Amino acid sequence: MKKVLMVGLACLDIVNVSDGFPAEDTDVRLKEQIWSRGGNASNSAVVLSQLGTHTAFMGTLAKHRLSDLIVDDLIKYGVSSDLCRYHKDTMTPTSCVILNTAEGTRTILHANKTLPELCVEDFMKADLCNYQWIHFEGRNNVSQILLMIENVEKFNKELLSASSSASASTNSCSQTPAPRPITVSVELEKATRVLHLLDLLDKGHVVFISKDVAKHKGYNTAEAAVKGFHSQCDTTCTIICAWGEHGACAIGPDGIVVSSPAFPPAKLVDTLGAGDTFNAAVIHALNKGDMSLLEAITFGCKIAGKKCGQHGFDLTMQ
Ligand code: ADP
Ligand code: FRU
Repeated sequence: MKKVLMVGLACLDIVNVSDGFPAEDTDVRLKEQIWSRGGNASNSAVVLSQLGTHTAFMGTLAKHRLSDLIVDDLIKYGVSSDLCRYHKDTMTPTSCVILNTAEGTRTILHANKTLPELCVEDFMKADLCNYQWIHFEGRNNVSQILLMIENVEKFNKELLSASSSASASTNSCSQTPAPRPITVSVELEKATRVLHLLDLLDKGHVVFISKDVAKHKGYNTAEAAVKGFHSQCDTTCTIICAWGEHGACAIGPDGIVVSSPAFPPAKLVDTLGAGDTFNAAVIHALNKGDMSLLEAITFGCKIAGKKCGQHGFDLTMQ
């Protein structure tokens, strides 16, 4: 069974649950403090796996006890972490998150002082035959991600040319279906990295653009963003943009814009990783191939809405 491979960050999230935003230079008692695995690609990986997609995660990890918390959580959700690259003498990247339950906001204070990003040599340890979809979280290693995607494209070309020469040498009655090339998706999320992230725009079959990146480029709605970005890239790609409580929009190769509303939970509890959850559910739907683009983003908004009603990413929670 071929898997979906999620490439990007796994980190430690220290989630501080507060019923207001702390004032500067005060000593605050929290409602709750939760230590958990975080990071966009690894968050999406655990959601994908729970939805029934065979999933692997690839990223860098510190050779340090804190990585056990990350790997144990991936294992708990059936996500393979065998391809992760460990680095000695480094620290686990950490996010201190303030969840303000009064406003429904999540403020992320992230630091990665020493852990190197994944490079193309690490990525090439993966046997691409095992994957049908590879998702790349756009991080500080865009030049390396471009090389990784080049390798996937080369693999896809070889796959298709091997299958066309095999079918030319067999008679038409015994033809096997053409192999499915690997779908590449990319995520452009951090506005602070937008200059480099835009190099990825033309490289994904499916491109996830965050509200922050869209706003940074001057778009005020998801619809304007997907139209604008689509006009700048290969028209065969699909552009998707989630917009918090306004839901999400997408535009496919046919150029038609589709929109889904958000599905707010009865009580807004935790929006940390709502976008990662949305991406995972959309990838799950598109990879299975039994939903239209509109159905896929609607499914994404429903699963992300459920996540907003609870802490963490356990989809079995009521
Ligand atoms: P991110 O976590 O990257 O900031 P968004 O805020 O755009 O991502 O949210 C992604 C998806 O999660 C949205 O499309 C929506 O479906 C859902 N979502 C996020 N915030 C809310 C909310 N307050 N109410 C309902 N759904 C939400
Ligand atoms: C949520 C998240 C957190 C992590 C942060 C990194 O989207 O992945 O789990 O700490 O973003 O920017």
